[in-house]
Amino acid sequence: MKKILLFILLALVLFGLPFIAYTAEDYVGAQKCKVCHMKIYKSWEQTKHAMAFEALKPGMAVEARQKAGLDTQKDYSQDAACVGCHTTGTPDRPGVQCEACHGAGKQYSSAKIMNKVAWKADPDKQCAMAVEAGLVRKPAEKQCTVCHNTKSPTYTPFDFKTRYPEVKHPE
Ligand code: HEC
Ligand code: HEC
Ligand code: HEC
Ligand code: HEC
Repeated sequence: MKKILLFILLALVLFGLPFIAYTAEDYVGAQKCKVCHMKIYKSWEQTKHAMAFEALKPGMAVEARQKAGLDTQKDYSQDAACVGCHTTGTPDRPGVQCEACHGAGKQYSSAKIMNKVAWKADPDKQCAMAVEAGLVRKPAEKQCTVCHNTKSPTYTPFDFKTRYPEVKHPE
């Protein structure tokens, strides 16, 4: 019994905590990242991830809804069973935003860490500070499968290796 408890605790620390430890206050929202990452923001804005919340509104994504046996006219945008994977943290951050892949940004997006001048002078140091403050530079598979899993009513098998390049930002 003790061993099992210890194992669960260890598993939580190793794998679960990064997600569990985030609260709504840890997120800043894509509007904040936009201030300094305008080009990436502009390209992200055009992606399906950015628009994922729209799919929950009545009459949207009709074909996908029909295929999944969902009501085509229902408003799912307040539905607790849906919003989790179609928002970032809370419904006032609609869509799959920057922080869904790069980690909740309150700490690392500070002007002290993500500082252009300091970053240029010592990129390794600033980057290490950002990672320490929670920045995820390259999202891992487990970050995608938080949403890309069989709990999604429209689930299609998710192959990390082929889908990963699709979410990289264009040069
Ligand atoms: C105050 C301006 C500022 C804000 C706000 C900001 N960043 Fe940055 N960020 C930078 C600068 C400067 C760099 C250094 C590299 C560069 O110039 O692009 C950087 C680097 C990064 C990197 C690359 C790290 C690496 O691997 O080299 C990522 C990823 C990143 N930011 C994500 C975000 C996200 C997500 C947000 C919002 C939660 C955010 N940033 C908010 C200024 C900012
Ligand atoms: C669906 C996941 C996902 C989302 C959402 C996302 N990114 Fe990224 N981001 C990535 C991946 C993947 C890379 C490439 C990492 C690698 O392999 O080097 C990346 C790289 C970056 C970099 C490093 C420079 C570059 O161009 O590669 C910055 C800066 C960055 N992202 C900022 C942002 C900002 C700002 C947003 C929101 C406007 C955002 N990202 C949204 C997955 C994402
Ligand atoms: C917060 C939940 C969430 C996370 C995290 C997430 N996704 Fe998604 N993803 C979605 C949703 C929801 C859609 C469908 C959006 C729509 O079509 O309205 C989607 C769609 C996609 C698409 C299809 C886009 C298109 O143009 O057809 C790709 C590719 C994808 N995700 C890859 C990834 C990868 C790779 C990661 C991890 C680096 C990731 N996703 C992380 C929720 C998420
Ligand atoms: C576990 C995460 C998760 C949950 C919960 C979830 N979705 Fe999704 N949703 C996704 C992902 C990921 C996609 C991208 C396709 C897939 O399922 O692989 C998606 C795609 C969709 C699409 C297709 C969008 C398009 O542009 O074609 C619709 C519609 C949709 N979801 C509606 C819903 C509704 C309605 C609910 C609640 C009953 C819901 N989703 C719950 C993760 C989720």
